[in-house]
Order: sequence, then C-alpha cells, then structure tokens
Amino acid sequence: MIVVLIGYMASGKSTLGKMLAKKLNYEFVDLDDYIEEIEKMTVSDVFKTKGEIYFRKQESFYLKEKLENSNNIILSVGGGTPCFGNNMEMILESKNVTSIYLKASIPKLVKKLIKKKDKRPLIAHIETEEALTEFIGKHLFERLPYYSQAQLIINTGSKSKKNIVEELILKLF
Ligand code: S3P
Repeated sequence: MIVVLIGYMASGKSTLGKMLAKKLNYEFVDLDDYIEEIEKMTVSDVFKTKGEIYFRKQESFYLKEKLENSNNIILSVGGGTPCFGNNMEMILESKNVTSIYLKASIPKLVKKLIKKKDKRPLIAHIETEEALTEFIGKHLFERLPYYSQAQLIINTGSKSKKNIVEELILKLF
C-alpha cells in the first residue's frame, strides 16, 4: 500500500508520516525532500531561481513517479501538491493508494508557521501573525475542495501525535 498524506503546510505530514512509517515498517518519503535531492537545492531556491511553475511541473512529475513505482511507503506531499494539475486525480485513481487529509485548525497552523515561514516561499514575505491568519484563511478555503477529496480525513485538533498515529492505523486497516 501507498499512503499519501496531504494537508496544509505545517499540518504535521512529515512528523506524523515518519512515526506512521516506523510503526508500519514502511519507507517514508517526503516529496519536497526528494525534489530537493534531485534539484540539488532547497524548495525556496527552486522557487527563487526557477519559479513556481517549474516547481509545480517537477512536483507533478515526481509524484507520478512515486505513485507508479513504490510500495509500502508513506508519501508526504507538499501543501500545494493536490491542488495543481491532475495531481489529486492521480492520487485518487492510482491503485493501492490511500489518501489521508491531516486537517489542522487555522490558529494551530498560524502558531507553527509563524516560526517556520522562512523555509516556505509562499508565506516568507508575510510579516505579522494577523496577516498570516488572513492569508491562511483564504488559502485554505481555496484548497479545501482538493484536500477534502482524500479518502480519509483526520482532525488533528489538540490530539497528541501518538494518538493521531493510532487513529491513522485504525482507519487504515
Ligand atoms: C507548498 C508547500 C510546501 C512546499 C512549497 C509549496 C504549498 O510543502 O511544497 O513550499 O504550496 O503549500 P509543505 O507543505 O511540506 O510545507
């Protein structure tokens, strides 16, 4: 099985994905890290030097590659991955794939992202917590129609990471 974790930036895809992979004895793959390895530069630098359209093409190409050639992996994709091209269709139509939307609240996302925004080209320019809250509110509203197509949805709320992973396993099997 391939488990694809989707959700907004900082929704816990990588952290929870690594924990889940360990529990299931699956390989963990982060699509952004994979692209960084291939491009030999950070996602921020890809955006800066080659532009977002180039990044989105690479993202789609490597998503397809991973979906077609992997098994027993937890694949954490970028916050924008399901929302571009036919990526969400690809995720939903691939055989042996279960998609999970990790749904986090706006205040929780803001709290995490205000500290980590420098690594995220789409929000790096936003100065205040208030402006970030407004941006995420609008952005999430636009992305929700994609995220909510996932086969499973987990509200991460104030649950502990351990509890979320247990819930994920229960929902998966
Ligand atoms: C993006 C999310 C990032 C990364 C890129 C664009 C997005 O991944 O792919 O900066 O469009 O939401 P994370 O969700 O892992 O931060």
